[in-house]
Amino acid sequence: MKELVDRWQTRAGVWLAMRPMRPSDAPLVKESLNKLSANARRSRFFASIGEFSDDTVRQLVTVDPQQACALLVLRTDNELPTPIAGGRFVCNENAQECSLSVLVGDAWQGQGIGRRIIQALLHEASRRGLRRMTGQVLADNQAMLRLARSLHFVVLESANDDGVLRIIRDIPDERARQRGGLLGRVFRS
Ligand SMILES: CC(C)(COP(=O)(O)OP(=O)(O)OC[C@H]1O[C@@H](n2cnc3c(N)ncnc32)[C@H](O)[C@@H]1OP(=O)(O)O)[C@@H](O)C(=O)NCCC(=O)NCCS
Repeated sequence: MKELVDRWQTRAGVWLAMRPMRPSDAPLVKESLNKLSANARRSRFFASIGEFSDDTVRQLVTVDPQQACALLVLRTDNELPTPIAGGRFVCNENAQECSLSVLVGDAWQGQGIGRRIIQALLHEASRRGLRRMTGQVLADNQAMLRLARSLHFVVLESANDDGVLRIIRDIPDERARQRGGLLGRVFRS
């Protein structure tokens, strides 16, 4: 995956950049995670986390690029780039399906950042030939459910009534489309 995934300006004129997460991001990511509201922590991690420890943060920022894709969004117009959001997918054992999670800092929500992250993850999943993306969302997380539905995820009720819903969507087969495009050009020529 190329290093810089996306760069854009918010409506307020703040420059943001999205790129793959690196292990060296741990100290800054830890600082940002520890500023999250209780609600954002619960919505993302399904638990009331107090302080994020070095170990937890190390696990979050260290991903096996073969098995997962983790993206970080940074505010880049400060002296020190500041992580403000992130998202990831992790491939399941069958390597056809991946599970999604996303987190946007409280002050940055509702500005299209979550949407951009999920779109970038869908694009990367498609590039890798994955066929389906799933996720787990708390039943009271209207923001994520609405965003997921608008990105064509289907929301499935939980079978065991644990307050967690499953979201799921198929991923377009970009590699086949590209092969089709190439074949199409060959046939047309
Ligand atoms: C859920 C979350 C990822 C959404 O990201 P975001 O950047 O705030 O969302 P966006 O600005 O991209 O919003 C896109 C759509 O989401 C929906 N949405 C966003 N915030 C919403 C809110 N507070 N209430 C209802 N719908 C909301 C809307 O449909 C919006 O569409 P619009 O742009 O047409 O209004 C973000 O709020 C978040 O990180 N929350 C805490 C952690 C979490 O819930 N993670 C998801 C579990 S894996």
